[in-house]
Amino acid sequence: MCGIVGYIGKNKRAKNVVINGLERLEYRGYDSAGIAFSNDNEIVIQKEEGRISNLKNNIDFNKKSNIAIGHTRWATHGVPSKDNAHPHKCNKITIVHNGIIENYIELKEELKKLGYTFNSETDTEVACALLDYLYKDKKNINLAIKEFQKLTKGSYAIGILCDDDLDSLYAIKKNSPLIIGVNDNENYIASDVPAILDFTNKYITLEDGEFAKITPYNVHVYDSFDEVVKEIKQFEGSIEDINKNGYEHYMAKEINEQPEVFKKMATIYIDSSSDNIISNMPDLSNYKSITIVACGSAMHAGLIGKNLIEEYGDIPVNVEIASEFRYKKLFINKDSLVIAISQSGETADTLEAIKIAKEKGCDTLAIVNVNGSSISRVVSKVLYTKAGPEIAVATTKAYSAQTTLLSFIAYSLAKNSNDKNKLSEISSFLNDLNKLPIQMREILDNEKYYKEIADHISKNNDIFFIGRGIDYALCMEGSLKLKEISYIHSEAYAAGELKHGTISLIDKGTPVIGIVTDKKIADKTISNIKEVKSRGANVIYITTDELSKNGDFYDIKITIPKTNALLQPLLTILPLQLISYHVAKNRNCDIDKPKNLAKSVTVE
Ligand code: G6P
Repeated sequence: MCGIVGYIGKNKRAKNVVINGLERLEYRGYDSAGIAFSNDNEIVIQKEEGRISNLKNNIDFNKKSNIAIGHTRWATHGVPSKDNAHPHKCNKITIVHNGIIENYIELKEELKKLGYTFNSETDTEVACALLDYLYKDKKNINLAIKEFQKLTKGSYAIGILCDDDLDSLYAIKKNSPLIIGVNDNENYIASDVPAILDFTNKYITLEDGEFAKITPYNVHVYDSFDEVVKEIKQFEGSIEDINKNGYEHYMAKEINEQPEVFKKMATIYIDSSSDNIISNMPDLSNYKSITIVACGSAMHAGLIGKNLIEEYGDIPVNVEIASEFRYKKLFINKDSLVIAISQSGETADTLEAIKIAKEKGCDTLAIVNVNGSSISRVVSKVLYTKAGPEIAVATTKAYSAQTTLLSFIAYSLAKNSNDKNKLSEISSFLNDLNKLPIQMREILDNEKYYKEIADHISKNNDIFFIGRGIDYALCMEGSLKLKEISYIHSEAYAAGELKHGTISLIDKGTPVIGIVTDKKIADKTISNIKEVKSRGANVIYITTDELSKNGDFYDIKITIPKTNALLQPLLTILPLQLISYHVAKNRNCDIDKPKNLAKSVTVE
């Protein structure tokens, strides 16, 4: 959601670096793009609605520039348009901004009284005018920035150019991500490391409240009063991690990476030589309750976790949508653990939810993918999912990595229980775990079959997913995956709840995907599948080889290998991801960048 890239350097490749960086950030989601660069010491701004390619076509790359800031905008205040696109310029100040200035209406009124006029509907143009006013008043950009931080409410990562000092690039941050890339004779700013990986893997993380003055040779970072010494970090992955590596889409690549991600996580978290077996896992057995806060697919992974932790760990688990959790009455206390799950570690609602949990005195744990992200820095304990950079907006490998960690947590709780039945159920866990990557690969290699199934349902307007318990949690993720990338209306329903309304939507030929992987409730779900089948539904029945039944209650059957119940969701999700992918492909959708969606949702 909104991408920022900035460059200052002796090598004068500002336009190329910024456009390349914006392309690398396309996955964050956007609907307009723009760039400001210096041309013989004068700032030139170019902006376009739509894709970066529209902008790129109009830029003269032959004329070199030593400083530029660029932006991809995901519309919040005002429609996607050239006027609303960033950068915004007001007299000597030019800015790009990610976040929301919450008090922009009051500020705008004040600025209007001072004679400022506005051409866009954005809060960013107000922020730009405010900075200009403060700069004129203080006659010093550092002081103007400090005052700006005091006067504004909300969240921001801002890249700033000042006409009077085009040998420096300025940046500030509060509650929105921003890093500074470090290189010889040139430095960068960016919303995320992939934006600069083509040029450097060294970076500095800017903290809330800090601002930076960046020249080609130096990076000076200040908190409210003093200059602070910042650690230069090195990105763990490589450029290969952010390329498609021969796949047509990032989503296809990321789906196929899941066996490797699982193997890597098992290596990190499972130590079969020790009594404890799960290494680096916090002991959760003393908590009276667990609350999981998350958004989107991360919340769906949380639902898998709830099923597994309650069943195998005997601890009650609430799963809360982070944006709801923030504004409701809470019944958590120091006996509760609050777990935030997030791929990006930057989702605004999840970040605020975990801060609230901390204020309430709860212990906090984060399951995040991005090292050093905001959520990981707020909590008392972090478990990293190690999925590597995920570029496609629709998550696949990060979701299964989150599910993997939750399964490991449930296993470690079950391992310490005295319940003989449970201990016997999990006794084959380590064996099953070793076989899992091979079973995952078998399913993925059967892609042709899922493509055929996708061909079967691509022309429909509505699809339903039904299941019970953990299968219902999988239905929710399968349904979200399908609707977000194929734009087909889809609903996930608890199978037993169907006849309380939704069954009236089932007509002849309506596709219904029924998931049956839990032995305890398999027959019940099959009865519900029969109810839709007898009303004409076109049933795709997904089950394990252990539970597989024949009969006339389905049209297509998908049989997946049986594994330990703690690991089964990691296999069941794969056909759902592949079917969604091929349905979206059949419908010529923009698979990696679905319309209106953003990968990293940094506004509430
Ligand atoms: C967006 C993405 C989803 C993701 C959700 C939460 O909506 O499109 O794929 O599940 O945000 O993101 P997070 O980074 O917190 O996991």
